[in-house]
Amino acid sequence: MRNSRIDVSPIAGSLGAEVSGVDLSKPLADAAADEVRAAFVEHQVLFFHDQRLTPEQQIAFSGLFGPVTQVPYIKPLDDYPEIVAVLKEADENKIATFGGDWHSDFSYLEEPPAASVLYGLEIPAFGGDTLWADMYAAFEALSPGMQRKLERINAMHSGHVYGAAMQDTDLRLSRSIEISRGNAEADVERPHPVVRVHPDSGRKALFVNPIYTTRLENMTKAESRPILRFLYDHCTRPEFTCRFRWRPGDVAVWDNRCTLHYAVNDYDGSRRLLHRTAIAGDRPIAAA
Ligand code: SIN
Repeated sequence: MRNSRIDVSPIAGSLGAEVSGVDLSKPLADAAADEVRAAFVEHQVLFFHDQRLTPEQQIAFSGLFGPVTQVPYIKPLDDYPEIVAVLKEADENKIATFGGDWHSDFSYLEEPPAASVLYGLEIPAFGGDTLWADMYAAFEALSPGMQRKLERINAMHSGHVYGAAMQDTDLRLSRSIEISRGNAEADVERPHPVVRVHPDSGRKALFVNPIYTTRLENMTKAESRPILRFLYDHCTRPEFTCRFRWRPGDVAVWDNRCTLHYAVNDYDGSRRLLHRTAIAGDRPIAAA
């Protein structure tokens, strides 16, 4: 797609596009900002190369997509409460990484973040890619009968990974990501529609993920498991995904309302550092 000011090139059949012709360190002109926002609604994940952003500039750019918000249970940078450093050191081997399974950010919140922005500072020579999955495409590929059933049910979500049972966990995560665990309030389950309507595109997207979705409403975990397992396998089929190979200076912006993402943990021996901001969202809108 050729724009008057910026160029937008899809990187995969379902979702994800590279945007060139913009310097994110400077405020965008109104027309360019509108083009970037329109590309974001169309492609769900945008990638910008060769950027040099201070924390203030990353926060200012993030504000293009809505109010920048803080996320719970994860210690932010000392001077920038809006920014979390996603860091794994070169000597941290065989540990879990932040975001190392398919998820939509903080989906257990009453109003989960609408979008997230990740800025790559130090990137391994190879490995450490991020994958995204298109939850519109996944919903649209289901049979009409399955779509109708899913449109009428809620799934329960909780922040159990920050909850009471995780207080004494031996799960090792990077020492630089200070996560507060043992929070009883994080265990509270909240219902969200399994199919949500995106407020900007009006399209329907699946909204479940294997990190935060605990079960389907009014069902046990055992009863829910086969249905959720089917949905996770279905929505992460390769044709619904894109994979991004990071370089230092890359910026990714993704829409948590219609995508899942997955940080690939395959770079033991290399340091990887990115700065992450979040954009406030609304309570998910049910499809039926
Ligand atoms: C995240 O889930 O926000 C982290 C993604 C990444 O490190 O690639």
